[in-house]
Amino acid sequence: MASSSAHMTSLPLLFLISVTCLASMVQSSQTRPMNNTVSAIYVFGDSTVDPGNNNYIKALFKANWYPYGKDFINHTATGRFTNGKLATDFIASYVGIKEVIPAYLDPNITLEDMMSGVAFASAASGYDPVTASMSNAIHVPKQLDYFKDMKTKLEQSIGEERTQEHIKKSVFIISAGTNDFVLNYFNGVPLRRYSISVSDYQNLVLDQAKGLYQGLWDEGARKIVVAGLPPMGCVPAVITIHSSKTQGCYEDYNTVAQAFNDKLQDELSNMQNKLASDGAKIVYIDIFKPLDDIIKNYTKNGYDVPDSGCCGTGLIETSFMCNRAASLCTDASKYVFFDSIHPTEKAYHDVFESIIPVINYVITN
Ligand SMILES: *[C@@H]1O[C@H](CO)[C@@H](O)[C@H](O)[C@H]1NC(C)=O
Ligand SMILES: *[C@@H]1O[C@H](CO)[C@@H](O)[C@H](O)[C@H]1NC(C)=O
Ligand SMILES: *[C@@H]1O[C@H](CO)[C@@H](O)[C@H](O)[C@H]1NC(C)=O
Ligand SMILES: *[C@@H]1O[C@H](CO)[C@@H](O)[C@H](O)[C@H]1NC(C)=O
Repeated sequence: MASSSAHMTSLPLLFLISVTCLASMVQSSQTRPMNNTVSAIYVFGDSTVDPGNNNYIKALFKANWYPYGKDFINHTATGRFTNGKLATDFIASYVGIKEVIPAYLDPNITLEDMMSGVAFASAASGYDPVTASMSNAIHVPKQLDYFKDMKTKLEQSIGEERTQEHIKKSVFIISAGTNDFVLNYFNGVPLRRYSISVSDYQNLVLDQAKGLYQGLWDEGARKIVVAGLPPMGCVPAVITIHSSKTQGCYEDYNTVAQAFNDKLQDELSNMQNKLASDGAKIVYIDIFKPLDDIIKNYTKNGYDVPDSGCCGTGLIETSFMCNRAASLCTDASKYVFFDSIHPTEKAYHDVFESIIPVINYVITN
């Protein structure tokens, strides 16, 4: 808990101010400010926000089969690594833009879809391009290239000036980084951790992350929302790998996540301070604390199982190992995790609820 108080004191001032002001403005946590002028939501990152881009490339990790999507609209397995919606889907309907955010690479995507928001995220990707290359996912610089392609299509349709105005009023959401540490640094082949210290690797990942935020800014993005790392030591697959060393969460990974989050917050508040006069709203979203609370106080939060997934044994299965032949729990909403790595729709919804004050701050003028 010492680390959590250190975490609090390093929160950017801006974040504290925004939450404090909004507490008085927002009547109930579910009341969306009616004067928001958001035109679209664009999403970048990994499986926590990928609605199915990996379906359309030769990626190793996909999730477009049962039981993924079993509680989604029309019970469709879209490629989302969960039983239902992602937190970004809940944000889109809360903001009043669309019910769910589609994948940019879906060949049926229309110009209208692009105008209201799409996701460029790719499961198993990370800020470090090496992470994505391990499973042929779409690395972050490539996701930015796809966004630029889309921007060109908008310019051809509505002109440069209106496109610029549109992008200025759009919200950009980024959720990545876990795979850089869990798949690449600590468990990849060859092991990055033999050649670079964890602190240096955090800085390397942060540099790549800055490249994305700056790239989006250069394309005209002004409202940029970045999720920090989750308590990655509490992921069931991680607990399984380290079962000889740990009973509950593997806290070594959580410490690394919190140290990275501190650096990320500093970076984002530096950017915000530097760019405030140009209309920036660049904010950090803490998902560590809400998820840590859900997992460690699971009974209070309405869950029965915090440490294994609903699919299969819940200890190792993800992607192709979570399939029709795997056993399945009867009620996914009683589980924090749907497979051995990814949260259930219920957990994504709880995280969404915890970040509403920040969303309100970003979507109002
Ligand atoms: C669900 O099915 C209905 C009827 O076929 C269709 O109109 C709707 O677009 C589908 N929704 C999604 C999100 O796939
Ligand atoms: C695209 O739309 C066609 C016609 O509605 C449909 O048959 C096809 O399955 C869709 N493709 C995808 C990838 O959703
Ligand atoms: C669990 O709940 C208690 C009581 O509400 C709280 O003090 C503690 O911080 C929570 N634990 C986590 C990890 O959030
Ligand atoms: C938006 O609504 C909030 C809450 O009612 C209000 O405080 C704020 O001044 C409004 N902003 C604009 C630009 O109208």
